[in-house]
Amino acid sequence: MPGFEVIGREEAEATASVFNEGGILFAHGFDSLRNKFHVREFESNSCKYFSANYSQATQSGTSALKTALKAVGVGPGDEVITQSFNFIATVEAIHDCNAKPIICDVDDNLDFCLKDCLSKINKNTKAIILVHMLGIGGPIEQLVEIGKKYNIPIIEDACEIVGGKNNNGYYGCFGDIGVFSFDFGKNITCGEGGMLLTNNRKYYEYARSYTDHGHALEPKVARGNDKAIMPGFNYRMTEIQAAIGKVQLNKLENIINEHKTRYQILNNFFPNKPYIRQELNNCRGSYDTFIFINLQDNQANEILKILKLNNFGTKNLPDAMRWHCSYFWEHLIGEEGFKHSKKTYKILSNAIAIPILIKRSLKEYEKLGADLKEYFG
Ligand SMILES: Cc1ncc(COP(=O)(O)O)c(C=O)c1O
Repeated sequence: MPGFEVIGREEAEATASVFNEGGILFAHGFDSLRNKFHVREFESNSCKYFSANYSQATQSGTSALKTALKAVGVGPGDEVITQSFNFIATVEAIHDCNAKPIICDVDDNLDFCLKDCLSKINKNTKAIILVHMLGIGGPIEQLVEIGKKYNIPIIEDACEIVGGKNNNGYYGCFGDIGVFSFDFGKNITCGEGGMLLTNNRKYYEYARSYTDHGHALEPKVARGNDKAIMPGFNYRMTEIQAAIGKVQLNKLENIINEHKTRYQILNNFFPNKPYIRQELNNCRGSYDTFIFINLQDNQANEILKILKLNNFGTKNLPDAMRWHCSYFWEHLIGEEGFKHSKKTYKILSNAIAIPILIKRSLKEYEKLGADLKEYFG
């Protein structure tokens, strides 16, 4: 779960260093007043860590999503497919491009449903966004193949799985563009922040200019003189965010290992049970939630009681459904999308996500697992 649990001395020192180096908080320019560019370093460290050719830091995951959509050319009248179990930001970003969000199902394992997506592709489909929800990787490689077949760009929302990977690479690096969030609830955090990753030079150049008012950003031209080459916006990250982000990135592997230890404790109580959300075969997710699915009758209520007795809460399911289920977003997706979301609402109503917290001891997870196991028999 969140990088906020491990925020400490290193992040405080990194913040102080920005002031000790002259207090330049802006990502660009002021060259004579400093010798450090934290945003640029955070970007290049991210490229190295995740093995991406290019990266563009942004203020948030939401602004990275909007930038990604603009970079692949989404505009008025276009359709963009994304899934029903999601975070509202994807649909908002599509809406903000004056495009139409088309909602496709998730399957019983809460993953992006390729079959339903295929049924929704048509000549107006300009992009597809797959979201890896709650630390478990979705079928991104199959979707990339579909994207190639139909010549549709794939945007990979990896905001909830930063640092997760499969045998072929890190999530966020499979699609044409991948997007991370570093908001306060994410695996690593800098308060608010985002990153766009891509191997496509054209998309990168678009993203770089779009996030900085459409300016050309030519290194040899003085900042005030660089030309505005396209419509853009201000989605810039600050030096303080980046200084903290760099420290958190160094902690990421350890954060995921700590998650995994706790996740495995719970998982060992329920080997291969159909009521536990499963990972795809070769997925090493980010293990920040342990999820019960397909619950029957009163099981969800009983699990909630056991969690309460053990002083544990839930994460998103069911406490933040309105943020994560398209059933609640008729204002963005219209009646058709709302109707299509009913099935997912039902699936999600029978699921419970338990947060994996590094500050909670292994013993506490042992006790919780034993209590839950006793209930399931
Ligand atoms: C799947 C997903 N996409 C996008 C976002 C948006 O990120 P941010 O909060 O950095 O704007 C979030 C944040 O919760 C998310 O969970």
